[in-house]
Parts: sequence; C-alpha cells; structure tokens
Amino acid sequence: MKSLQAIILAAGEGTRMKSETPKVLHRICGRPMIAYAIDLAASAGVKQPIIVLGHGADAVKPSLPKEARAVIQTKQLGTGDAVVTAKKFIGANAGAVLILYADTPLLRRTTVQKLIETHFKTNATCSILTAHLADPTGYGRILRNETGQITGIVEEAEAGAVQRAIREINVGPLVCNAQPLLEALAAVKPSAAKHELYLTDIVSHIARQEGTKIQSTRVEEISEALGINSRAELARAIGVIRQRIIESHLHNGVTIEDPATTFIDQGVSIGADTIIRSHTVIETGVSIGKRCSIGPFARLRSGVTVAEEAHIGNFAELVRTKVGPRVRIHHMSYLGDAVVEEEANIGAGTITANYDGKDKHATHIGKGAFIGSDTILIAPVKVGQGAVTGAGSVVTKSHDVPANGVVVGVPAQLLNHRDAQDAAAKAPAKAPKAAAIVKRNGHPKPSAKPRALRKPAKLVARKRKKAPAKRTTVRTPRPASHARRGGRIRAKAVARRRPASRRPKVLARSKR
Ligand code: UD1
Ligand code: MG
Repeated sequence: MKSLQAIILAAGEGTRMKSETPKVLHRICGRPMIAYAIDLAASAGVKQPIIVLGHGADAVKPSLPKEARAVIQTKQLGTGDAVVTAKKFIGANAGAVLILYADTPLLRRTTVQKLIETHFKTNATCSILTAHLADPTGYGRILRNETGQITGIVEEAEAGAVQRAIREINVGPLVCNAQPLLEALAAVKPSAAKHELYLTDIVSHIARQEGTKIQSTRVEEISEALGINSRAELARAIGVIRQRIIESHLHNGVTIEDPATTFIDQGVSIGADTIIRSHTVIETGVSIGKRCSIGPFARLRSGVTVAEEAHIGNFAELVRTKVGPRVRIHHMSYLGDAVVEEEANIGAGTITANYDGKDKHATHIGKGAFIGSDTILIAPVKVGQGAVTGAGSVVTKSHDVPANGVVVGVPAQLLNHRDAQDAAAKAPAKAPKAAAIVKRNGHPKPSAKPRALRKPAKLVARKRKKAPAKRTTVRTPRPASHARRGGRIRAKAVARRRPASRRPKVLARSKR
C-alpha cells in the first residue's frame, strides 16, 4: 500500500452539545469520543496521526497517544480550515491523506479499510464515504451527474429544496491524494451561509480538474454514519456501541442474562462460560476469567481483575482490586485497592476503608481468609492467609491479622488462632458442635459461629455476674441488730412494689 497519513479533526466547539466539556471528550462506553477516531487511524496503519485541536485543546491533549502530532486551529473557521492548519505536516511527497472526523465514532475499522483499499485499487484522486439515510437532516448531501459521477457535496445550510431531498449523505471521512488536496484547499472559498471553509468543497473542485477521479464507498451499516452533534445523538451512539460490545462477548462464549440492563465498556475482557447477571456495570480495563459469576447489580470499576470461578454478587462494588480464583464476594461489599487471594470469602457488607481523605491505601486479604459480615478493613491493612474476622469487626489501620488469626470486635482484637480452633474442633467428645461448624473448604459455616467468636459474649456476661457478688460481701458481716431488722427491710422492699392501698400496716408505721 502507498504511504498514508491521517488527520483527525477535533477542534470544533460542539455548540449543539450545550456543554462545557469539549465535544470529543464526551465518553462513549468508557472512552472519550476522540479515542474511536484514533483507533481507526491506527487500524489503517498510521502510527503518528495529526490531530487538529482547538476548542478545549488543553483538556483534550492528555487523551492523545504519545505518538500523535497535535496542531492548534486557533479559530474554528470550518473543517477545511482545520485541514489547512495541519498542512505543514503533510510532506511534499506524501502519498494520500486519510481525514477522519472525531465525531463519527460508530465507523467500523473494516469500513475505513475498505475506503482506503478502494482508493488505491481504483487509482482515485479522492474517495469519500457515503450512506443512504431515510432522514438525511444535518448531513452534507452527495451531488451526482446523470452518469452517476460525483460532482460535489453540498452542506445542508447551503442546499436548496431539491438538494435537501437527496438522501445520499457524506459520512465524513475521506481519502485524498496529498497534492490535489493541498491545491483544492487553496482554491476553496468561505461558504455563503456560514462563512466557514468547508472541507467538503474540495470535492467539487477536484471533480472539475482534468484527469481526476472521485470514488465513493458505502458504509456497511447505516448506524456507522451517525455524526455526534447533540446529546440525543450521543445517547444513540452509546446504545449502538454498547450493543456491539455485548454481541462480541456473547460471540466469545459469555452468558449475558439481560443485555438490556448490562453495561459493559470497551476494553473489557471476559472469559468463556462466565455468567453476567442483570443490572451489572463493567467498566473499561476490567478483566474477568473463565467460569465466573458476576452480578446481579454488581459494579466492577477500572483496575479490577477477576480470576477464574470467582463469584461477585449483589451490590458489590470493586475498584483497582485483584480477585483470586474461587473467591466469593456475594453481597453488598466495597473493595477498593485490594488484593483478595484465592478462595477467600468476603462476607456481606464488608468494606475496605481505602481512602483517608488524602490518599488511597491497600488492603491485602490472604488465601482462604474468612471475612465476617459487616467487617470494616481500614487500609493499609493485611489479613493473613486463613484468618477470620468476626461479624462487625473493625480491623484498624496497620493492625494486620496474622495468618490463621481470629479477630473480633471494635477495634478488632486477636482472640484465637484457627489452628487451635480447628484442633479443638477435632476433639469430638469435648466440642462436638464446633467440629460440625468448622469444615467446608476450611471455612467455618457462615450460619454457625466458631466457638472462638462466641467467647466475648461469655466474657462480658461473666464480668457482669462478678459485680453484684461484691455487694454481697459487704452485707455479710452485719451486726446482730441489723439482722433483726432484716425481715422488716425485706418486707419494705416487697411492699414498695405494691400499690399504697395494699401495703401492710407495719410499713405505714415505719414511714412515719
Ligand atoms: C460535517 C460535514 C458534513 C457531514 C457531517 C458528518 C463539513 C463542512 N461537513 O458536518 O458534510 O455530513 O460532518 O457527520 O465538513 N472541526 C474542526 N474545526 C472546525 C470545525 C469542525 O476541527 O473549525 C471538527 C469538529 O471537531 C468535528 C468535525 O470537524 O470533529 C466535524 O465538524 P462538525 O461541525 O461536527 O461538522 P458537521 O456539521 O457535523
Ligand atoms: Mg459533526
């Protein structure tokens, strides 16, 4: 293939979006709109695309790849003017130039590749992409002569009634040989209606030149032609891309129970035989292994990796977290900046308090650990392999739980070691119940608490019992006179609980 350069037009203000955010930064399935055009240029084999920025250039720049060459169009005087700005990068002996609009994200790679291939195969001077729309409103219309040759493109603002009735529209991207492109750009004049320099006006100029050839390629699907100029069009584009993403996962052997309520961003990988249940959101960069179960109502945010056969259930939110094989996170948990090693069980309502208001901190949960319901893990903190946290524990910052340690309470205190607990459990005569509790993949049964976890309740009860014992010792060495009055005092106490009318007379006397 001959040499090809690419220019991406992204300087426009996007007034119809009614937004302070530059149009090309609005997100579609986890990525800014401009990323789709950059991908298209890359898929066409262009390593260093030229990107024309203008409105909100500083905000857009961080979204560009390192290799991109950015140029600034200081005033947005039209798409033709934007290409003129990029002129200095178009080498004198450049072959052809692919021009992409940053606001047509639905274009498929295959379509753009077809446009380029046809351009070179047919020795065209300029090749444009077209579509037939039932409602062509807002798009440039394709003008053809009696023999079907393209003679130009007319923008809606400049078109008369007959031209507006044309349903063949300009999708936007075009491929043009560099020299004729530069000559045509030098020749076009600002438009009458908008006073902008239209890129599309180069087509009629080239068509008028001797020995030139204008070629057109049709999009494979009508949805590809959608240009994003308003929020309504943005919503439609999100819908189309979302559907395409879902279809590609279904194709790869993933079960998606309810595509209508499942939102999977671009750049997510999911292994075969994984089930995604309804109302689940999976964001860019997440990677899920084989045979997992995710959702319903789960949200996996950026930086999450889930190994095979893990279960992440209802209302679980994970961010920047590595989940090991066969981990269970079934209900209402938040895990951020965490590592959860294989076969750990995360109880309902577990929270990693990873943010201290300034920085984010890490939580490490070891292999086979059992995190009791409603545990709060204040990061940075580590829960060792096989360790247990009791329901409602608050494991405080840097107070790591040792391997097999059992902690309970607020703040969590080390109570026991699971090895000791297991040993006790194995002695059937002493603790027949504990033995039943302990085994199921080495985890205590969630329904029955291990002996160790019941201890604090006992301790508290014992303390309470001791306190009244002190009072008894004070009473014992009473003098004989006191003992005589004992009967009367007891009678008094009993009487106090009765209504005044039913109190014995002796009490009435003593009151006096
Ligand atoms: C453009 C086409 C129209 C086509 C439609 C397809 C022109 C004149 N018209 O219209 O034929 O049917 O796209 O969606 O090209 N931009 C700049 N600098 C500017 C103006 C625009 O970089 O001064 C960029 C925008 O950021 C955008 C792209 O060029 O990414 C297209 O501009 P836009 O204003 O959206 O053109 P449309 O009116 O949609
Ligand atoms: Mg547009």
